[in-house]
Amino acid sequence: MARRSHKPDLEAILDDIADRMASESERGKVADYIPELAKANLNRFGIAVVPIGGAPVVAGDADEPFSVQSIVKVFTLTLALERVGSGIWARVGREPSGDPFNSIVQLEYEHGIPRNPFINPGAIVVADIILGKREPQAAIEEFVSLCRRFACDESIGIDADVAASEIATGARNRALAHFMAAEGNLKNPVEDVLELYFNQCAVAMSCRQLAMSARFLASAGRLEGDDDPIITAERARRIVALMVTCGLYDASGEFAFRVGIPAKSGVGGGILGVVPGRASIAAWCPGLDEKGNSLLAARAFEELARATGWSIFGVL
Ligand code: DON
Repeated sequence: MARRSHKPDLEAILDDIADRMASESERGKVADYIPELAKANLNRFGIAVVPIGGAPVVAGDADEPFSVQSIVKVFTLTLALERVGSGIWARVGREPSGDPFNSIVQLEYEHGIPRNPFINPGAIVVADIILGKREPQAAIEEFVSLCRRFACDESIGIDADVAASEIATGARNRALAHFMAAEGNLKNPVEDVLELYFNQCAVAMSCRQLAMSARFLASAGRLEGDDDPIITAERARRIVALMVTCGLYDASGEFAFRVGIPAKSGVGGGILGVVPGRASIAAWCPGLDEKGNSLLAARAFEELARATGWSIFGVL
């Protein structure tokens, strides 16, 4: 294992992590509640780091696109904040839920106000805000353009098979959405909001593209060379704070304890991380643990934090 230093040798560290992840036999289980995701190959592993002001450093299958799923909630929140500002917080909270990402029980006793924007009901409210008065297809296209702009990569798109698979099987998300509609917390028809939500989750990106797309969060809302920030420094800081407290659902506390890097996971097996002032990071392996987070991507983050000293809570 490479040693921690003020200027870590990222190439050596990532190669070392990718080598070890390739030989792990315990790899978790692919998500199968969205049938198309069950086709993912458990043997894949990729990792990418984009240091602020530097070029991406990658290892393993870092250029293979995968379904980003809930990771996209970081970017949908960014867009919704730009659209409606802090008004969003009247409709969604900012506390960790301590429950699984698709839990229904809390939503009922909290009257249709989701705990935070990173659990499914919270992201469905965010999709409703982004939809505004648009047609779903127009909102989907705008969102894909935003992902391309963040990543500086025009090849990013939606995996139509994954979107169709979730549209066909998303009964639980429909239940969440209908309950919020009944409580007056959705403004658009449920199926329009879900069409946008499912397509957002079905965006496909590689580790390199994902790490590139989160650079603005590591650098106080700005992309190097751009005159205008993507978001204000204060909003970037707040999104990163939510990644710490809510980014891995009911495993967020454990991830902060073990790793200490603000992050957001998705059931496609990706984890996106942000180290303010230093770097953005993405790791991917499709096998999940029992909480729905990638087993080996989480382990890769843990090793990266140890090798670089990048825990935001102090060096390991
Ligand atoms: O709504 C769903 O269930 C998926 N489209 C996204 C879930 C997800 O990625 C949660 N992540 N860990």
